[in-house]
Amino acid sequence: MYSDKIERVLITKEQIKTKVEELGKQISKDYEGKSLLVLCMLKGASVFFSDLMRELKGDVEIEFIYLSSYKAAARSCGEVTLVKDMESDVDGKNVLVVEDIIDTGLTLTYLKKLLETRGANSVKVCSFLDKPSRRETELEGDFIGYEIPDEFVIGYGLDYAEKFRNLPEICVLKREVYEK
Ligand code: IMP
Ligand code: MG
Repeated sequence: MYSDKIERVLITKEQIKTKVEELGKQISKDYEGKSLLVLCMLKGASVFFSDLMRELKGDVEIEFIYLSSYKAAARSCGEVTLVKDMESDVDGKNVLVVEDIIDTGLTLTYLKKLLETRGANSVKVCSFLDKPSRRETELEGDFIGYEIPDEFVIGYGLDYAEKFRNLPEICVLKREVYEK
């Protein structure tokens, strides 16, 4: 185990690999014959994004955007800031937003509105993880890897106070770490 801050492994490397392949197949089928702009939400989705994009068939462009609703803590502060915008024009494009986890849904609700305002032809969301019990908006993902309970997870791109993104599996952080 990497650290005494970790409670347990929730999703193993092997499970991640299988799930990413499944999602890749589903998405490729869904967008068959259409071109796609795959938008990575920095920083958390970067690891999942680089695995997923290699499972996508067809005509794919990539982009990056960085929105923040977290202030180095384990709970959302509810306000979304656009830290770093994407470079491409989304007008008329089919955008697939790739996220690490949907929690309250506030970040993605903000982003979907932004992309629609900018004239995207379609906007869908693929998130590796989903914590539906924490939702504060109507938002639902279109492609979801795993639904998980209300626990704070780290690894595979997900951080706690900017650490642990490099862990190759998804682990549960000990409650005493983020509730202290
Ligand atoms: P939302 O706007 O509340 O849905 O925020 C989603 C963002 O919160 C994700 O992209 C993550 O950066 C962060 N987040 C939510 N839950 C967790 C977690 O369990 N571990 C790490 N980051 C999380
Ligand atoms: Mg994030």
